[in-house]
Amino acid sequence: MTNEAVTVNLTLKIASIASVLSLSLLLSLNTNATTSEDKIIERIKPVGQVCLEGDDSCGSASAIAATSGPARSGEEVYTSKCGLCHAAGVSGAPKFGTADWAERRAKGIDELLATAIKGINAMPAKGLCTDCTDDELKGAIEHMLNSAP
Ligand code: HEC
Repeated sequence: MTNEAVTVNLTLKIASIASVLSLSLLLSLNTNATTSEDKIIERIKPVGQVCLEGDDSCGSASAIAATSGPARSGEEVYTSKCGLCHAAGVSGAPKFGTADWAERRAKGIDELLATAIKGINAMPAKGLCTDCTDDELKGAIEHMLNSAP
C-alpha cells in the first residue's frame, strides 16, 4: 500500500467510527430524556395513599377518613405537591409567578379545579396529591393564580 492509500483508508475508518459514535450518543440522549421524566414522576409519587372510611379494598385496619385532620393551606399543598412541576414549568406546566397563570385565570376556578382533579396531558390527576380534598386542590390553584404578576 502506498502512503496515500493508507491515509485515505484511515480517514474513512475515522469517519465511520465518528458517525457510529454520534448516532449512539443521540440514541442515548433520547432514552435519557424519557427515563428521567419517568424517574421524576416515580420520585414525586405520594408515599402513601389514604383509604376512605367504608372502603374495604384496603383492609379495615387502615380505614381512616380523609377528612380527619386540619385542611392544608393552598400554599402548603403547592409547596409539597404542585411545585415539583409548577415551580419550574416541567413538561409545559403553567409556571408559578408568571403570566402563564394570568392566561389560565380566564377559564375560571371551577373549570381549573375540574381539570386538575381529572388531569390533562402531562398533568396527572389531582397533581399526584391523591389525598388532597377538592378544597385543598382549589386552595393550591388559587395560590398559583395569585402568583401571576
Ligand atoms: C407531574 C407534574 C405536575 C404536578 C405534580 C402538578 N401539575 Fe398541574 N400541570 C402540569 C402540566 C404539565 C400542566 C399543563 C397541562 C396542559 O395544559 O397541557 C398542568 C396544568 C395545571 C392546571 C391548568 C389546567 C387547565 O385547565 O388549564 C392546573 C389548575 C393545575 N395544573 C393544578 C395543579 C395542582 C393544584 C397541583 C398540585 C396538587 C398540580 N397541578 C401538580 C403538571 C403537573
